Amino acid sequence: MLPSAWHTNDIAEAPHIPVLHREVVAWLDLDPGMTVVDGTFGAGGHARVLAERMEGRGCYVAIDRDPNVHVHFAAFAADHPDMRTRLIGANFALALRNLAATGVRADAVLLDLGISSMQVDETERGFSYSTDAPLDMRMDPSEPRTAANLVNELDERELARIFNRYGEERYAGQIARAICRRRGSEPYARSGDLVDTIRRSIPTPALFGQGHPAKRVFQALRIAVNDELGSLENALSLATQVLRPGGRLAVISFHSLEDRIVKGAMRDASRGCVCPPDLPICGCGTEPELRVLTPRVVRPTDDEIGENPRAASARLRVAERTVAGT
Ligand SMILES: C[S@@+](CC[C@H](N)C(=O)[O-])C[C@H]1O[C@@H](n2cnc3c(N)ncnc32)[C@H](O)[C@@H]1O
Repeated sequence: MLPSAWHTNDIAEAPHIPVLHREVVAWLDLDPGMTVVDGTFGAGGHARVLAERMEGRGCYVAIDRDPNVHVHFAAFAADHPDMRTRLIGANFALALRNLAATGVRADAVLLDLGISSMQVDETERGFSYSTDAPLDMRMDPSEPRTAANLVNELDERELARIFNRYGEERYAGQIARAICRRRGSEPYARSGDLVDTIRRSIPTPALFGQGHPAKRVFQALRIAVNDELGSLENALSLATQVLRPGGRLAVISFHSLEDRIVKGAMRDASRGCVCPPDLPICGCGTEPELRVLTPRVVRPTDDEIGENPRAASARLRVAERTVAGT
């Protein structure tokens, strides 16, 4: 038996509790024998509830850029012998491009964005501001740039821009200045040193009452290190190409930057005509590629947030592939 894998269908025992899993199952509306592309396999929590709905029959293509998910994928595959399963260890944007190019057509594509509880709990990976660890934050450890590289090498303006844009950090400028002052004599190697600088560079009242003072800077660095928003933008149109007509795309986001990209991409793909609004008739002939099924974003219930506080910021949007362009 594989040591840290999840061998039961009991959600409460999962190493990462899949958020909005009931809603994902209901909206994807799968039948036995269908094909799913799961762009963010993680511990396979969503995979297990979707496979159950498919009565263990069909095809499950799992994607994840973190090689540590192999153990969870191996357990999932072993528990579903009648399913065709495959793991692609890559950025989902790249994997979806290859799947589209090879003509794969799926009934569902799922993207459950961000990082998993396992990644946060693997303290040596530096995702957590609560434990001192190497300042790394790469989901894929073969990528060349760590959070320490960004903190030690980017200029003050660029660091402030990242903290401000990806973390909505109010004291972005002060923190960036303090980092640049310190790193000349003492380059950053550990998360604890960065937390220390953040604590020292924001006003004392701001240290209390708005969550951990390093939370926003850590989120911003993680997004930048992993180019999370760029990957998402690229992946959304590719996901549409991978869907068969009537197939569904479900995306779970965890902060407003991601949700804005998802909402915008689904809206644009469902609009069709791209002619200037003052043209009396459409000259472009562009047909909508998606139909949005969730005009209002789907949020977790209070019960789910009670069971899994990490779900609090989760937002689900779902769209269906039309016949256009297929
Ligand atoms: C929130 S977790 C997914 C959890 C999963 N749905 C479950 O129920 O266990 C996100 C996972 O997606 C992976 N991931 C995030 N962005 C990715 C990307 N651009 N390409 C591939 N994998 C990505 C992370 O490594 C992580 O394992």
